Amino acid sequence: AGAAGVIIMNEGQPGRTGLINMIGDATGLTVPAVFVTSAAGENLAATPGATVTVKVDFTAETREAYNVIAETTSGNSANTVMAGAHLDSVQDGAGINDNGSGSAALLETAIQMKKVKTNSAVRFAWWGAEEEGLLGSEHYVGELTDDEIAQIALYLNFDMIASPNYMFGIYDGDNSSGTAAPGFIPPGSAEIEDVFEAFYDSRGEPYQDTEFSGRSDYGPFIAVGIPAGGLFTGAEGVKTADEAALYGGVPGAAYDPCYHAFCDNLRGDGQNVALYNQLRADYELVGNINVHALDVNADALAAAVITLATDSSTVNG
Ligand code: PHE
Ligand code: ZN
Ligand code: ZN
Ligand code: ZN
Repeated sequence: AGAAGVIIMNEGQPGRTGLINMIGDATGLTVPAVFVTSAAGENLAATPGATVTVKVDFTAETREAYNVIAETTSGNSANTVMAGAHLDSVQDGAGINDNGSGSAALLETAIQMKKVKTNSAVRFAWWGAEEEGLLGSEHYVGELTDDEIAQIALYLNFDMIASPNYMFGIYDGDNSSGTAAPGFIPPGSAEIEDVFEAFYDSRGEPYQDTEFSGRSDYGPFIAVGIPAGGLFTGAEGVKTADEAALYGGVPGAAYDPCYHAFCDNLRGDGQNVALYNQLRADYELVGNINVHALDVNADALAAAVITLATDSSTVNG
């Protein structure tokens, strides 16, 4: 309505209904939905019925993106355990926490898998174009036949697992926090949550429910009924005083103060120096990575993959 540019509406994705990404000049657009973001993800804070007066000043381009998929040569492929992490970042920064952290932990587990034999086949996925709207995982799941869907026992997702001001979040597969994607949570997602809880318990680490809203690559999987779970140490959300008492760190600051920013890198340049020095009082940081969170969560990833690939019948028959 009055917009000169191209509008992409990411409708139909769990948790993303009504999100609009604008490419080009959207001046005069009347907003039909709650959220309006620029293509860079900037929240333009529009309310339904408001009129947008922005000019997004860049040229759209088309690029090819890839998923990287690798699977064990042994194990029952009729009961495949999948684990994935997105490999792309936003344009603004290197994406070392979002999502170098998940990608690297997944790769290390894949490498170490040569030492173990599991009952289930394990398929690893490094997704492309997550930041553009879950495009890689949507494409992958969209191409699966009904038989192929039925052969995936479960999917584990790792997107941001070493946030500098971290909390240990487990996707809330039993929806005890009421943050579930609208519709239907595949049965079995609660049992996956239990596996991660048992891991943190075994390490004496605190943990909490985190949103199971579909805001990452597990969304397309739960949309076709595949049980899912995963880990998340926090993005733009703000750490509470209670969480700081549990995990350390700085209350009132974002879990990842460099979320979708230039300073989500390994060198640390561009950081809010005062804030990151405050974090260093409690934590070892390398650039935008919390070393303790990465250490624990890389083990959690490996433990969950191996536990569930040893007995995925606890999740999905
Ligand atoms: N998918 C979000 C991103 O890549 C991060 C995120 C993961 C947010 C999980 C909420 C839950 O920017
Ligand atoms: Zn991101
Ligand atoms: Zn991410
Ligand atoms: Zn829960």
